[in-house]
Amino acid sequence: MGTPHNEAAAGAFAKTVLMPGDPLRAAFIAETFLQDARLVNNVRGVQGWTGTYEGVPVSVMASGMGMPSIGIYSHELFHCYDVDNIIRVGSAGALSPKLKLRDIVIGQGACTDSDYAHQYELPGTFAPIADFTLLETAVAQARRLGVEPAVGNLFSSDVFYNKAGRTLDWGAMGVLAIEMESAALYCNAAEAGKRALTICTISDSLVTGEELPPADRQTTFTQMMEIALKVAVEMAGRKD
Ligand code: HPA
Repeated sequence: MGTPHNEAAAGAFAKTVLMPGDPLRAAFIAETFLQDARLVNNVRGVQGWTGTYEGVPVSVMASGMGMPSIGIYSHELFHCYDVDNIIRVGSAGALSPKLKLRDIVIGQGACTDSDYAHQYELPGTFAPIADFTLLETAVAQARRLGVEPAVGNLFSSDVFYNKAGRTLDWGAMGVLAIEMESAALYCNAAEAGKRALTICTISDSLVTGEELPPADRQTTFTQMMEIALKVAVEMAGRKD
């Protein structure tokens, strides 16, 4: 088996896959949290690892940046590797003045400037939303770890360096943070009849201009990773 982008054998991925954007962060999660982690994919350096966490099989694979990239990898995980749950663990830029650097944001929905959902040829606008079971489990696990996450809309953008400069208009509509992947991930989960959720850590603020250094982005987002791993464990115990 395998796909143009994934050389893993059939059955090499666990039912829940954590997806950071960055391959180095995927390796960091595998090394830091998983037991007996083995590299199952390395096509284009998009590292996929499978190991166990609290005795439960869990995988982690990078998504790359942007909706075309996560669109490919999540489609293949859902359809070719029979993965049930994908939890994106990423960074996001604050659009709300209430958010501080390192705050955790869980994406209940994902607005977008992308045409990704056009492919479904629906007679209207599709609203990409998180899976409610993953969402409520993540909120409960965050609170258990002493974290109160912000929960609400994300804005998944096709553009990082945006000429129009109107991104904060999304903040005025109550959108919490900007990133570049969740709308496509949520669309793919809906199309596949599977579950997806995004948990983000605020790496920068479009409101204040503050930002974390890149090295922090790679290694200091451990709370978000632990929340996602605990969700993976809970999902393994469910029957439905
Ligand atoms: N824009 C888009 N994606 C992001 C940002 C941002 O400011 N920060 C983290 N991911």
